[in-house]
Amino acid sequence: MPNLKLGDVVPDFKADTTDGSIQFHDWIGDSWAVLFSHPADFTPVCTTELGRVESMSGEFQKRGIKLIALSCDDVESHKGWIEDIKAYNNLSAFSYPIISDPKREVATLYGMMDPDEKDAAGMPLTCRAVFVIGADKKLKLAILYPATTGRNFDEILRVIDSLQLTATKKVATPADWKQGGSCMVIPSVKNEEAEKLFPKGFKVHDVPSGKQYIRTTEQPE
Ligand code: BEZ
Repeated sequence: MPNLKLGDVVPDFKADTTDGSIQFHDWIGDSWAVLFSHPADFTPVCTTELGRVESMSGEFQKRGIKLIALSCDDVESHKGWIEDIKAYNNLSAFSYPIISDPKREVATLYGMMDPDEKDAAGMPLTCRAVFVIGADKKLKLAILYPATTGRNFDEILRVIDSLQLTATKKVATPADWKQGGSCMVIPSVKNEEAEKLFPKGFKVHDVPSGKQYIRTTEQPE
């Protein structure tokens, strides 16, 4: 991900997808978006991943997230592959677009290329990238997985819950946090401010250093 940093406005692009041509920023509109890439069509791990995301699409929708996948092959190939994805994953519908990127233009723009993965013709392929993008079009999260490791989309939802919570509340979420779990008061908030922000209270945890930096509170509403 050479040029894209957290907080950057993500690059806009025009592309063909299985739902027609899109201008990416217009397509995102006022929602959040998850853009996730795949090495190639008709590959086994990708087939499980796209099916899993479709089966979880209601959960993404509840969080105001639009989904869009990318694979380097063309739209006709994507459309044929979608039938396999539906059949293998027992799905009656497939509700989100897949971007076609045969020239690797979007993949290059976003730093998704995996130098070690090549197709039969020796063309480089994308890794399994995940970009979570806010309605402000800014990058909230980026993760790269190698082609041989399928993603855990429960983790992507968990992370989105944390991103959306911490975008508006002055808390951070601890290791393995899940929706409804207790949160940490962020270090920049002084105790006097924390008392106002968290009327149900917060707990300062004693540690050997004597420094009062570990403060927990219920997840704010
Ligand atoms: C897969 O989706 O199964 C896959 C794609 C490229 C390399 C390895 C696995």
